[in-house]
Amino acid sequence: MNKLTDRVAVVTGGASGMGEAIAQRLAAEGAGVEILDRQDASAVVAAITAAGGRARAHLCDTTNEEQLAAAAQAIGERHQRVDILVNNAGILSGRTPLLELTRAEVERFMQVNFMGYFLTTQKFYPWLRHSAAGRIINVASRTYFLANPGQLPYVASKGAVMGMTRVLAKELGPDHITVNAVAPGMIATPGTREHSDEAAFDRVMQNQAIKKRGEPRHLAGLIAWLASDDAELVTGQMWLCDGGGYLL
Ligand SMILES: NC(=O)c1ccc[n+]([C@@H]2O[C@H](COP(=O)([O-])OP(=O)(O)OC[C@H]3O[C@@H](n4cnc5c(N)ncnc54)[C@H](O)[C@@H]3O)[C@@H](O)[C@H]2O)c1
Repeated sequence: MNKLTDRVAVVTGGASGMGEAIAQRLAAEGAGVEILDRQDASAVVAAITAAGGRARAHLCDTTNEEQLAAAAQAIGERHQRVDILVNNAGILSGRTPLLELTRAEVERFMQVNFMGYFLTTQKFYPWLRHSAAGRIINVASRTYFLANPGQLPYVASKGAVMGMTRVLAKELGPDHITVNAVAPGMIATPGTREHSDEAAFDRVMQNQAIKKRGEPRHLAGLIAWLASDDAELVTGQMWLCDGGGYLL
């Protein structure tokens, strides 16, 4: 524990689900966590504070450049740097066949799941450059590899995230910033519960090498490691965290 003492961490989508667990774990490791979410994250901040950690919440839609710029300026000026950026704010999908897909639906996924990550990274990069151990961690998805029929917008948006991860790993390497993607399997969160019942989570578990239901804390542990000094030479990679459900 306390691998991240005094690091400044920005977590998008930290009001719920994976982001909530990521914010809590990074705070437990000693980081001061700044949560960006379009919904109120004060309950997560209160839980972190009650556990002895440090966190703040910012109401911010990651597709809104003005809100992002204001959050980046406030956070950057307060700390004079950002050490860790976790791009996590995203939307989940059900299944829609090709001929029923609309342009607006495809654009909605690209806007939130890709453009949101791109804009957040661009706005925080000037502050990440001031870190001695900069980390960008993009939450992608194992669904990219499974290529589920009917999930084209979601899978395409996560594929774009992987492309961005690979390019920026090389482009930001000279700034000593590592850039990695993490790909969880199917984990019960408010987002996935909208589209899947309990039986679906159990079916996914039965296809894993390790037959244990994935929880947000599993992904949070991987992210805490990638954010730590132990992972300083790990960059440009995609890390699956799905109990061996899909083997690369
Ligand atoms: N849960 C899974 O099984 C699973 C699997 C693979 C990948 N993921 C990825 O994990 C991430 C988090 O998913 P989750 O399951 O925790 O979902 P969730 O719906 O429970 O939480 C998503 C959070 O992101 C916030 N958010 C969404 N759009 C936003 C925006 N434009 N600006 C700011 N905040 C926004 C929401 O308000 C919410 O707090 C997503 O990127 C998702 O694609 C989840």
